[in-house]
Amino acid sequence: MSTQDFADLQLFITGPTFIRPEIREAGLLPEFGHRDSENNKRFTPAMAGLKQLAGCGDDYHVILFNGSGSNAMEATVRSLVADDETVLNVSVGAFGDLYHKMAVVNGKKAAQLKFEPGQAIDMAKLEGALIEHKPAVVTFTHNETSTGVMNDMKAVCALIRKHGAMPLVDGVSIFGGAKIDLSGSGAATYATSTQKSLALPAGFGILFVSPEAVEKAKTVKNRGFASDIIGQLGRATKNQTLTTPNTTLANQMAVQIDHILHTEGIDNRFARHIKMRDMVHDFVATLPGFSLLAPVGHRSPTVTAVRVPAGMTVAQLKKVKEAMRAKGYLFDPGYGKLNTDLEEKGQRVLLRLGHMGDVTPDMLSAYLEALKPELLK
Ligand SMILES: Cc1ncc(COP(=O)(O)O)c(C=O)c1O
Repeated sequence: MSTQDFADLQLFITGPTFIRPEIREAGLLPEFGHRDSENNKRFTPAMAGLKQLAGCGDDYHVILFNGSGSNAMEATVRSLVADDETVLNVSVGAFGDLYHKMAVVNGKKAAQLKFEPGQAIDMAKLEGALIEHKPAVVTFTHNETSTGVMNDMKAVCALIRKHGAMPLVDGVSIFGGAKIDLSGSGAATYATSTQKSLALPAGFGILFVSPEAVEKAKTVKNRGFASDIIGQLGRATKNQTLTTPNTTLANQMAVQIDHILHTEGIDNRFARHIKMRDMVHDFVATLPGFSLLAPVGHRSPTVTAVRVPAGMTVAQLKKVKEAMRAKGYLFDPGYGKLNTDLEEKGQRVLLRLGHMGDVTPDMLSAYLEALKPELLK
């Protein structure tokens, strides 16, 4: 094997995302002991910085799970849904379905409210499902990566709260790229991961947990070990992980969070994401027969799904992917299962454009310029 054969592609998929050279270099910083004072030098500022990015303070705990966003999400299901309760999983796409699957395979009493791909959560239908199922807990996706649909987190949480249930939010593909305003959002938990808009390698699931969720978890049986919020919290309150962390990633995270807070600035980072979203919308408007999937008001700042013209196939999109690879880029020919379903139904399939993390408007502009002729061939 030769590592020279590993292609150094610029990633425009929806995660993992492009890693800046400084963060690659931070991967060479020294290993450390995760119960030693060296641990605190990385995790204490990083965990405080994550709260700043979330827009919260001591009203939420932050836990770092080894694994990825799924580990944080599964922990919420294991720790917060009691045996005699119903969890309602609201889905606007593949990742809403994933939260439902986690509830089902963990033996929870789970109901699902599903919307067509491209739709956001319809509040009237949600209210109907809340009345019908009387759930104690409700999960939903803030930013649906398969369709580029962003839900109104605060409004959805408020409706769930109105019906006395606890909202658990999946924010995997938006956190770090948009203002979350977690304080006062109504979310009991908010899950994310490192490899999306934080522009780090994968390796930690990140979970913000309200004190109310902590109290609830204490009453739930069979929370498991690594999926137990209470066990995790014992270590998290000391700025540690429950099990041995990837110290390479921890070094990178400490450097990256410091960069976001003190070099780029949180507001500049969020503004850059909005700018890139708008660039992508303008680009799509120049392509005959292509159109944005997500409805106005629900268009994600980090990922855009685009309907391709009728007659354009998944096989053609895969050819575009290979043409873009030859140009040094990794292109996203749409969420696999969704495109298979759309193609079987004779509907227009989708491509996706990731515009999150540390991608700059200049990089995006060069990418879109390289992509345009391939899409119009
Ligand atoms: C919205 C959303 N939720 C959950 C996940 C799963 O996260 P992870 O791959 O970090 O486990 C993803 C991954 O793409 C996602 O986009």
